[in-house]
Amino acid sequence: MPVTGAVVPAACFDLRGVQVRLGPAPRPPALDGVSLRIVEGERVAFIGANGSGKSTLLRTIHGLLPLTAGLCQRPAGQRMAMLFQRPHMLRVSALHNVALGLWLKGMRWQESKALSHEALARVGLSDIAPRNGRALSGGQQQRLALARAWALKPDVWLLDEPTASLDPHAKREVEELIAEFTATRDGVGANTLVFASHNLGQVKRLASRVIYLEQGRVLADLPVNDFFNPDLLQALCPHAHLFVQGESW
Ligand SMILES: Nc1ncnc2c1ncn2[C@@H]1O[C@H](COP(=O)(O)OP(=O)(O)OP(=O)(O)O)[C@@H](O)[C@H]1O
Ligand SMILES: [Mg+2]
Repeated sequence: MPVTGAVVPAACFDLRGVQVRLGPAPRPPALDGVSLRIVEGERVAFIGANGSGKSTLLRTIHGLLPLTAGLCQRPAGQRMAMLFQRPHMLRVSALHNVALGLWLKGMRWQESKALSHEALARVGLSDIAPRNGRALSGGQQQRLALARAWALKPDVWLLDEPTASLDPHAKREVEELIAEFTATRDGVGANTLVFASHNLGQVKRLASRVIYLEQGRVLADLPVNDFFNPDLLQALCPHAHLFVQGESW
């Protein structure tokens, strides 16, 4: 009989009892006792009030912050791209903002520029390629940051409130790009998406799993359909239920 064992997806991140302090005690840690495993192909949303630890958790899984306790494991060689809550633009052209990142990763300059043109075209920014990255609008900068991430061909996308502060039209456009870019990885396997958002409609559209944070702790970790089932959420996590009731849609 052929062996047809289910394929167990590989973990992209495995956190055990993670604590992160950003300031000295007695200030409470920004993350405390966080244990979670995110596997390849998952689409995970972090939600919670301002200061609950969403950005800290994204930066921690990206490896940007030292842990004060616990473990955070990720496979070697995993390609990650992160979009920060406020995109960092260099004072050079939009094209060079993308190309320099590729060049710094070891790509030849001519190739970097060619791929950057392609990346700008993917996000609909070809016409602003020569403009200074810092002189672009918020929505254009967010799309430029997405182009930079796309050019890196990541396995894992880490996005920190990718559409906050955009107008409704730009929100929709950027969200559609995210959906498109994270749907497949060159037609092979599935991308992994981990993002923070205050937009619960967006969470419903993009996520398969929702993690609710409060004061640096994970209080709920549920499949998206369970999370948005009010009776179930109220029974499982009254704090998350209250938060969802209070958020605008
Ligand atoms: N650089 C820093 N130094 C000290 N404390 C910080 C720093 N950055 C964040 N914090 C604190 O860490 C906690 C978690 O902040 P974090 O930015 O992760 O929250 P968040 O959920 O992303 O909030 P928001 O919704 O406002 O983006 C907060 O109490 C915040 O004040
Ligand atoms: Mg944040």
